[in-house]
Amino acid sequence: MSPEIEATQTPQRSLPSGMERLAALGGLAARRMVPGAALAYGGNVTAITASHYIVSGLSKHVRLGDFLEHCSPAGRHRGQVIKVEQDHVHVCPIEPGEPIGIGDLVLRIGEFKVTPDDSWCGRTIDALCRPIDGRGDLRQGHEARSIESAAPPSMTRSRVDKGFLTGVRAIDIFTPLCYGQRLGIFAGSGVGKSTLLSMMAAAAAFDRVVIALVGERGREVREFIEDTMGEHMAKTIVVVATSDESPMLRKMAPLVAMTVAEHFRDKGENVLFIADSVTRFAHAVREVAIAAGELPIARGYPASVFTELPKLLERAGPGATQAGTITAIISVLVDGDNHNDPIADSTRGILDGHIVMDRSLADEGRYPPINPLSSISRLARKAWTPDQEKLVMRLKALIHRFEETRDLRLIGGYRPGTDPELDLATKQVPVIYEILKQSPADRPASDSYADLAVALRNAASASAAPPRR
Ligand SMILES: Nc1ncnc2c1ncn2[C@@H]1O[C@H](COP(=O)(O)OP(=O)(O)O)[C@@H](O)[C@H]1O
Ligand SMILES: [Mg+2]
Repeated sequence: MSPEIEATQTPQRSLPSGMERLAALGGLAARRMVPGAALAYGGNVTAITASHYIVSGLSKHVRLGDFLEHCSPAGRHRGQVIKVEQDHVHVCPIEPGEPIGIGDLVLRIGEFKVTPDDSWCGRTIDALCRPIDGRGDLRQGHEARSIESAAPPSMTRSRVDKGFLTGVRAIDIFTPLCYGQRLGIFAGSGVGKSTLLSMMAAAAAFDRVVIALVGERGREVREFIEDTMGEHMAKTIVVVATSDESPMLRKMAPLVAMTVAEHFRDKGENVLFIADSVTRFAHAVREVAIAAGELPIARGYPASVFTELPKLLERAGPGATQAGTITAIISVLVDGDNHNDPIADSTRGILDGHIVMDRSLADEGRYPPINPLSSISRLARKAWTPDQEKLVMRLKALIHRFEETRDLRLIGGYRPGTDPELDLATKQVPVIYEILKQSPADRPASDSYADLAVALRNAASASAAPPRR
């Protein structure tokens, strides 16, 4: 029997006073405060602004980030504590437009928990785990998981050292990846980030794919699910918060997706987590933080943006020795093609590699417009064989030579035959560029090095053939 139950059942010698009974009830409530319990801490709305509302009576009983439930005749709506002051708390409603009135009751519910289930595969849900694909209710799993759980402790995590193929030649050759790696795709808008992500989502290497679509246009979501994912949707779960949804929903979507990924990782599966885009997640965190009165410190971004990003991304990676892995591939929008903006800068530091896509390559029709010289995978050495590594270094040197002499060659400042290395570069680099071209409609490459070798051999034999009379 638990001590508090024992205490309440101990016979009293004299009848307690009303105050004593109330205090006992309060103590019991404090020890029993769990979501769904009959008793919960409550307070009342005392002020309302366009972005949040203020509740008194809860300051001593809630923590920053706790969820609360606002009760009114129109229904119950959840919100998150974004600031705690001595006698009141600031709450950001999850969904805007709730009818909030002065004096309304607000109850504490604590952490926001979701109960992922294997049957969620193939489904599309919103940030509150409500199905939005019109295919009926979602079955709830057995284990409730907080959407803001901590990453596994670093010393218990298994090591990242097993490579996998994405089927995208430009990545498998120049920046090969490992299970449990965290990779960013950096580019301006309309350059090809989402398309590359969808090509990678089709990789056969994963048991499960969990995708968070944050701040996308509604039209793009449907295209992505129906046209791009197609047959791969069976092992995929998509969590969506479109650009017109509240900042709270846009902030929660990647957290919910990561929690679903953790469910499958803990079952020992290799999970691919995709977030498109993390910049929109950062914008949502910024909106919520500014509503709480935080001061912007770097180009309009308050400090909490730079703590939320690593908190989310650190949850990806390898699990404990027995568990599976979460490989995270995220897109980062570089505003105005400025690769040094604060979000791009801070995510680059957290990640284990970055793919840089150039608008100029897209303009030339070289899709995916990946720049092989400025993209790196910090775990490439674990995925390459020694021969492959040597070959890639050689290819990069040739590409560098080709690009640095581009202007010189264009104005006719170079005579072939003067520099054998440059002669080789001018013959081979256009062939390399050609083989790296790939569209979502193409079959994923099963052996990118073999494709490259065949293309180079064919080009060499074509140029060595005697000219026809
Ligand atoms: N691999 C590709 N092959 C052919 N066209 C592509 C490819 N990647 C992108 N595109 C073209 O670029 C457009 C924008 O791509 P998208 O992935 O939506 O960009 P972003 O997500 O960076 O805004 C697409 O509509 C498509 O026309
Ligand atoms: Mg996009």
